[in-house]
Amino acid sequence: MKPQTIPEMSRDQATHLMQSVMNRALDQAFGGHDRTVAAGDQASIATFLPEKLPRKGMGPEYLAELLTGPLTDHIRDYRHPLHFGHQRPAPLVASWAGDLLAGSTNSTVSVFEAGPLSVTVENLVGNWVKDLFSLPASARVTQTNGGSESVLTALLCAREQKQRLAQDMDMRRLVVLHSENAHYCVARSARVLGLLRENIRAVATDAAGRMSMAALTAAVDQASAEGMDVMAIVASAGTTANSAFDDLNTCAEQAALCDAWFHVDASHGGSAILSSKLSAKLDGLLRADSFGWNPHKLMWIAPPSSLLIVQNANALKAALSDELCDASYIADQKAINRVGPVDPIEWSLACTRPFAAIKIFSALVAYGSDALGQRVETMCDLAQELARLIDGHPEFELMCHPDFNMVCFRLTGADPDSRLHRHLRDRMARAETAYLTGVEMDGRFWLRAHLISENTTKDDLSTLLEVVLDLGLTEYELPKINHPKKGICHANSSGTGQQRTIGCTLDSV
Ligand SMILES: Cc1ncc(COP(=O)(O)O)c(C=O)c1O
Repeated sequence: MKPQTIPEMSRDQATHLMQSVMNRALDQAFGGHDRTVAAGDQASIATFLPEKLPRKGMGPEYLAELLTGPLTDHIRDYRHPLHFGHQRPAPLVASWAGDLLAGSTNSTVSVFEAGPLSVTVENLVGNWVKDLFSLPASARVTQTNGGSESVLTALLCAREQKQRLAQDMDMRRLVVLHSENAHYCVARSARVLGLLRENIRAVATDAAGRMSMAALTAAVDQASAEGMDVMAIVASAGTTANSAFDDLNTCAEQAALCDAWFHVDASHGGSAILSSKLSAKLDGLLRADSFGWNPHKLMWIAPPSSLLIVQNANALKAALSDELCDASYIADQKAINRVGPVDPIEWSLACTRPFAAIKIFSALVAYGSDALGQRVETMCDLAQELARLIDGHPEFELMCHPDFNMVCFRLTGADPDSRLHRHLRDRMARAETAYLTGVEMDGRFWLRAHLISENTTKDDLSTLLEVVLDLGLTEYELPKINHPKKGICHANSSGTGQQRTIGCTLDSV
């Protein structure tokens, strides 16, 4: 019996609460997906929520009603067939089940003695990941709280390595080179580590969004001519902008030339390893000193579920061990007879981490890596199909052929300051039919479709284009189409065969 002063609900109440929430969640996961669910205004969502801090609880039944009632109508449906949003997937049911177990026990993955099962599962998943990527035994796989933490930890290793090579290392001379399309966490991590802003250098990309190897060579040469020291080269395997893959082999060669740490941010594209058809995109990955992969993106695991892989485990441990030595309250480094394996906390920047490995574990046990690879392939096939449709459509322009599972496109015709496209995107975020995001590249704003929903079919791709076109036609007068490849034509109000008089009225947008 719990003491009366400890508030908790009864088993019956807990069962009612859990089953209500679970039923609602299952209805949503396997339901009709009739609306993408728009980003309504926050004030109307807030009307369902208790505004004031509840000093006195309203009870489990009230909570069950709240969590399953009209509030849930505001949860965006990532499983909708016309959901092409950010890189956050609806989770696999198996990973969700693992998450339930982790959530109910809150088992630690910091030290073995406090979380014997969780640490064992985390280590096992680490071994499976080593197997997937054919990594040597000396490599260490660490679960992190996100791709950003992986990059920060990798760059910390890079700085430590430089410090070991030169005791008199001058921070002001350290340079980090990354693609101009790299995720912003790269530049931010370098700043956190004390690099000067001007020494965090973005390397130009080509028309496909990949880091230009000529520009990288020039950047390395320039740093050397200035007497600077390249601390790290960070390549992207699947950029956030358009899922482009950098040439990892050439990046590795450049890093070796200047004794720089080579990190690959494969947060997005690491999932290519799951498919034998796609894994060649990661060619050269094993030449990296470290890389990060986010199963919480294209492996359909709920976040946080991120991995940092460092080829030489000792380099990682060395970068993190100093401060931990003083933390005898967590793991006594001088323990006479230590329980179990080395504690994972020794390889982690974060102290507290969730038992995230159980989600990857559950997904792999239930489906196997091949089936997950097939899912990734399906998304990439759909991206190719969407690109084909866009390329053959007089009213659309493709930014470039997709490397992976994102397609960037625009309506053809003049929109010099991209206002039309920005408004189109905003309108779609507020509408309920289809959802996609956008990205500015090459000075222009592109619509960005990220193939991620398990329910998207080829037919939905045509529907997406119709929705975009319809919005363009009904909300704004589409600009005159003058596409170099496709000649001059006029937008046609979908399917009626009627020509519209086209004039650009962007000022009214
Ligand atoms: C390529 C890339 N790197 C890093 C990140 C950041 O990862 P996280 O949000 O898990 O910190 C993202 C996420 O959007 C990404 O696409």
